[in-house]
Amino acid sequence: MGDGRDHPGRRRRHARRGLLEKEASMNDYYSLKSRVAIVTGGGSGLGLGIARALGQLGASVMLCDINESSLRRAAEELRLEGIDAAASYCDVTKPDTVRDSLERARQVLGVPDILVNNAGVTLMQDIFEIGDKDWDFILGVNVKGLFRMTQLFADGLRRAGKGGNVVNLSSNGAKVTYDDQVHYCASKAAVSNMTQCMASNFAPLGINVNAVCPGAVDTAMLRACMAATEQQTGGKVTVADCERTWGPPQLGRLIQPVEVGRVVAFLCTPAAAMIRGQSINVDAGNTKF
Ligand SMILES: NC(=O)c1ccc[n+]([C@@H]2O[C@H](COP(=O)([O-])OP(=O)(O)OC[C@H]3O[C@@H](n4cnc5c(N)ncnc54)[C@H](O)[C@@H]3O)[C@@H](O)[C@H]2O)c1
Repeated sequence: MGDGRDHPGRRRRHARRGLLEKEASMNDYYSLKSRVAIVTGGGSGLGLGIARALGQLGASVMLCDINESSLRRAAEELRLEGIDAAASYCDVTKPDTVRDSLERARQVLGVPDILVNNAGVTLMQDIFEIGDKDWDFILGVNVKGLFRMTQLFADGLRRAGKGGNVVNLSSNGAKVTYDDQVHYCASKAAVSNMTQCMASNFAPLGINVNAVCPGAVDTAMLRACMAATEQQTGGKVTVADCERTWGPPQLGRLIQPVEVGRVVAFLCTPAAAMIRGQSINVDAGNTKF
C-alpha cells in the first residue's frame, strides 16, 4: 500500500513510464500500421523495394503491375518476409484496370490510403530519332497514367472521408539533362510540377503529395540503359564502365531500391506531415538543387 508520499523510487518509475509513453508516441509518428498502400510497377525494381520498405513500417501493400509473373513472385517474396502483400494486374494507362485494382485493394486489404506512383518507362534515343509514338508511350505512362491513377485514388479517399499520402517517382532527370532521354526528362519534370499542383489541390482532403528524385538505382531499367549505352557507343563504353561511373560519386556504388523505398515510406508517415509538394533528391548527393 502506498503512503501517499513521493518516494524517489516511485518518481523514477513515473519518469520511466513517461519516457516509455513518449517513446511509444514517437514511434507512432514513424509507423504505417493500419495503412494500406498501392504501389504501381510494384512487381520489380524500385517498386518492389518501396513496397518492402512500406511493409517493414507496418503497411499492407497491394502491388500493381503489367507483368503478372513478376507480380506473383514479388508478392510471395514479401509475404515470406512477413509483409501483408497482395497483387493485382494493373496497367496505369488503362483506367479500367486501375479501377479494378483499387477495388480489389479495398476488398482484400481495406481502403487504400497510400499511393506510390512508381510505374515508369524510358527509351534511350538520339534526339533526331524521337517520334510521336515515343512521346505518346513515355507521356502515356509517366504523366497521364500517373495522373489518372492519382485522380481515381484521391476520389476513393474523398468518398471514404479519409486522408492519405501520394508519393510520385520523379527522377534527378527532372532537374538535370540526359541528352538521349529528352522525353523521359520532360516527363519527370512534369511529374515534379504535377506533385506541387496535386499537393495544393488535395490538401483540403487531407492528402499529402510529395515526390522523390532518385539517382542511379540498380534495376532492370537502369541495366537496359547501360546496355543501350554500350550498343550506341559501339562498345566504347561498356556496361562495366557504366556500373563503375553511374553511381553517385559520394556513394561509390549504385543505389539499391530499398534505399529509395525507406525515404518514400518516411514521406507517408505522420512525421513527414510538414513536407508537402516537394521533390526530394534521393541520389546520394549527386544533384545539388
Ligand atoms: N532505376 C533508376 O535509376 C531510376 C532513377 C530515377 C527514377 N526512376 C523511376 O523509378 C520508377 C521505377 O523504375 P525502375 O528502375 O524500377 O524501372 P523498371 O523498368 O526496372 O521497373 C518498372 C516496373 O513498372 C512496370 N510497368 C511498366 N509499365 C507499366 C504500366 N503501364 N502499368 C503498370 N506497371 C508498369 C514494369 O512491368 C516493371 O515491373 C520509374 O518511374 C522510373 O522512371 C528510376
